Amino acid sequence: AVDHQPYRTAYHFQPPQNWMNDPNGPMIYKGIYHLFYQYNPFGAVWGNIVWAHSTSTDLVNWVRHDPAIYPSEPFDIKGCWSGSATFLPGGKPAILYTGIDPQNRQVQNLAFPKNLSDPLLREWIKLAQNPLMAPINGINASSFRDPTTGWRGADGRWRVIIGSKRRRRGMAILYRSKDFIHWTKSQHPLHSSDNTGMWECPDFFPVSPNGKMGLDTSVINPGVKHVLKVSLDDTKHEYYTIGTYDPAKDQYSPDPGSVDNGSGLRYDYGKFYASKTFFDDSKKRRILWGWINESSSVADDVEKGWSGLQAIPRLLWLDSSGKQLVQWPIVEIEQLRGDQVNLANKEIKGGSVLEVSGITASQADIEVSFDLSKLEKAEVMNPSWVNPQLLCSKKGASVKGGIGPFGLLVLASKDMKEQTAIFFRVFKDGKRYVVLMCSDQSRSSLGKDIDKTSYGAFVDVDPLHEKLSLRTLIDHSIVESFGGQGKACITARVYPKLAIGNGAHLFAFNNGAESVKIASLSAWSMKRAHINEA
Ligand code: FRU
Repeated sequence: AVDHQPYRTAYHFQPPQNWMNDPNGPMIYKGIYHLFYQYNPFGAVWGNIVWAHSTSTDLVNWVRHDPAIYPSEPFDIKGCWSGSATFLPGGKPAILYTGIDPQNRQVQNLAFPKNLSDPLLREWIKLAQNPLMAPINGINASSFRDPTTGWRGADGRWRVIIGSKRRRRGMAILYRSKDFIHWTKSQHPLHSSDNTGMWECPDFFPVSPNGKMGLDTSVINPGVKHVLKVSLDDTKHEYYTIGTYDPAKDQYSPDPGSVDNGSGLRYDYGKFYASKTFFDDSKKRRILWGWINESSSVADDVEKGWSGLQAIPRLLWLDSSGKQLVQWPIVEIEQLRGDQVNLANKEIKGGSVLEVSGITASQADIEVSFDLSKLEKAEVMNPSWVNPQLLCSKKGASVKGGIGPFGLLVLASKDMKEQTAIFFRVFKDGKRYVVLMCSDQSRSSLGKDIDKTSYGAFVDVDPLHEKLSLRTLIDHSIVESFGGQGKACITARVYPKLAIGNGAHLFAFNNGAESVKIASLSAWSMKRAHINEA
């Protein structure tokens, strides 16, 4: 039988059909996880946007409900755009979202659950006072959206930020409120940055200075650091900075060297946009959701009847260096691990490949760690190589090197004509080594009209003294990779023609001059999750 939907996923969140974009208002209420998302009920392209709604007890299996928020009033009649959930005193959830009014202005609205004793929170009531924030006094009405989760200061007042811009200056406009209903705009934005364009979907939260424990969004004390993430509309890339929040001045300043423009840090160096975190009070952790769009054409989206995935939710914490965040797929996903194959202490000679068989290569989870003992053959780093994505596109998987390229060929056809390569290359830069991680989609499909751009990131590990690890989640048309224990993440969308179903293979490879050793490799077939089934 011909599979007419080879690109639908088995364990990544997606609706049964149609268009999906941003994750909205993720939260846990009475032990139930909620995910809302930007959704077009009428087609596979963006438009008619409502807040679709699903719930889960484990963040893996999801039950679908009717849309929670949809256009119904003048303050949102032309669309219910992105927003966030906040718990008010007494544990009452509130949703702040952007509505599009009849004049196409972006305004901010509030909704409360109709019935607080329904853990599924199926019905939401919009406040009669909406809109609570309007684009007046110089705010650009088409650049005023995506309210964050609120945080409460020592003065008892709530704060939220709204994404905006003034000319080319991206900004996070700050509002304050005593009751979450009456809001006053602050004179100064929480933060702004020139030449970044519109800031969509800002996210602002504290992180603990040590360990993986998450913090409630309102935690403010001298010991914590803060993170500000913005989604840049101009480039459709997200950047975050780590910095300090001054609660007296209500201003955020990134640490020296932490920048929110095109040369800063990203959650993900592949596809990943409009993301949002929430604090999971039940497990004291902060979890990140992000939207992964298609890399195929709009015509293909219409033909297959859907567009968009959510990444596997990720645990997110501050690295011990304090200089970057680290991410790892939530532990719950491991319940889907089935058949397993293992390898240990296996040398891969330069120029060789090793097939890893015995698992479902189109639907798998792989963890591998490499031991690099001899680094003399490392290529010399050129100081002009500052852009890892460019470097990865120049030095793809087939370009021989000294130490690497080595890594995995996933969603590969038997003859390897189709392959997505996730790999490392080690360079020598004076006395230190630089590790480059790439996801090379250039040979991912024999199909046409597909964006096969390569992605890359530098990984802050010392390959001489640490093992170099890679975790890759493969799910038919998505490949999510975590290098260096989650220090660099790269997500790619691929549409193989041959490497689908049983035609998909998995290999380890080494195209470097020096041998590398697989210290350990475990690969699992992944079971199908129950996601939004009819
Ligand atoms: C980001 C975004 C948001 C907006 C929403 C509309 O992808 O453009 O800024 O609220 O999508 O669907």
